[in-house]
Amino acid sequence: MRIAVVGSGYVGLVTGACFADLGHDVVLVDNDDKKLEALNNGEVPIHEKFLPELLQRHRDGRIKFSGDLQAATRASEIVFIAVGTPPTESGDADMSYVESVAREISGAIDGYKVIVEKSTVPVYTNEWIRTIITRNGTNPELFEVASNPEFLREGSAVTDFLYPDRIVVGVDGERAAKMMREVYSPLTSGWYYGRAHAIPRPDKAQIPPRLIITSAQSAEIIKHASNAFLAMKISFVNAVASICESVGANVEQVCDGIGTDSRIGPRFLKPGIGYGGSCFPKDLLAFRAVAKEVGYDFRLLEEVIRINEEQRRRFLRKVRSVLWTLRGKRLGVLGLAFKGGTDDIRESPALLLVQELMREGCKICAYDPAAMDRAKEAISQVNCNGIEFAGDPYQAAKGADAVLILTEWEEFATLDLDELRKAVKYPIVLDGRNLYDPATMMAHGFSYYSVGRPPAIKQEAQLARVAKREHA
Ligand code: UGA
Repeated sequence: MRIAVVGSGYVGLVTGACFADLGHDVVLVDNDDKKLEALNNGEVPIHEKFLPELLQRHRDGRIKFSGDLQAATRASEIVFIAVGTPPTESGDADMSYVESVAREISGAIDGYKVIVEKSTVPVYTNEWIRTIITRNGTNPELFEVASNPEFLREGSAVTDFLYPDRIVVGVDGERAAKMMREVYSPLTSGWYYGRAHAIPRPDKAQIPPRLIITSAQSAEIIKHASNAFLAMKISFVNAVASICESVGANVEQVCDGIGTDSRIGPRFLKPGIGYGGSCFPKDLLAFRAVAKEVGYDFRLLEEVIRINEEQRRRFLRKVRSVLWTLRGKRLGVLGLAFKGGTDDIRESPALLLVQELMREGCKICAYDPAAMDRAKEAISQVNCNGIEFAGDPYQAAKGADAVLILTEWEEFATLDLDELRKAVKYPIVLDGRNLYDPATMMAHGFSYYSVGRPPAIKQEAQLARVAKREHA
């Protein structure tokens, strides 16, 4: 099919590249000339596994980049809107980019087309898009608006797209439903999975995926409710982890015990320093705003947000309780991205914690496999005193009073503990992502503090001896 994808941000880029891999002809539209030039020159603006391969495979073939939205609309049967919907001051989503796209494409609808909202949007956006397009002179018979929410995680967005748990299409007319079925038929028929160059299947992926057709409003709610539910799972487990800490229980054992109940499931039950990113924090606020607008006081969401913020403060208190005073302490920080596998630092709990520790007078030496450039830029806008960046985890840990693990990068779960041990001044690790087994850390000579598990503490006398030896 001929598809236009408007917005070449993270969702648009992944969607466009994956549609091309499914055999469709794609035009990716953006109004940022620099971005278009970079994409045309073969650059990949985001850190996303398999995306460079897909763009390379289809550039100048099935995928083209353009700044001309109207021409792209005329040339396409389906237009996916994947522009940003950032939060406003009050928490609801700013829909002005979506509106301006709807306005602009209305002049180019010269034959039947399906306009699909892919951005995360509040309920009734499909009706607004329809209204704006019609208000700008397009015959309502010539188009339908569908909602096709994305469930892509950063870092595994390409495999999430090609091996989804489900595909949700919210659409009110049969003609549009038929076209949307056709768009996804390479996945739902299983055709894609038999191809020699298919992106490899992740463990446990069920193929072919199920396509769920709903009303447009239901699809819009499915997106917000899914993200809110996942965030609720994380806050729930973080609250349970706090109780575990108070009573000396081990949250990992507790999660194993509850997650094996198939009604609950083991995923998204990892405690830590809270969720971040460009989706959960924003979508929870937006869902709460939608609920409020329709007269429902969704206080559960407020509690999810409160627990999430408290989780970060709790970790900070833990650092303080282990190190006593913070001013002048040297901390080796591992991780700045909001989660492993991405260079995204938006609403990153790791970065927020680093900034808090800097305000408390700590000297930070940070390392992240992908997010350092972005973090440097963000920090320099606030304050750059007290932070330096390292070339690897051991350099970050060199001479540190303590090492803090703040992002769940695979690389941080497989450190050479002997080398780390040699690098630090005091063998103290505060792990905000529970990447290590406490007994292993203790066996390597560390005092180890994690989330929701009893700490593994080396005797203070031993600590003192170690420090003395190292500074002799
Ligand atoms: C999330 C959803 O998982 C996607 O399904 C959705 O499409 C996407 O938002 C979106 O709306 O666009 P993403 O923000 O990329 O994806 O990241 P997640 O993998 O969901 O992680 C979010 C945060 O929760 C991270 O900070 C992560 O560290 C944290 N997390 C996740 C935990 O603390 N514990 C867990 O068990 C899982």
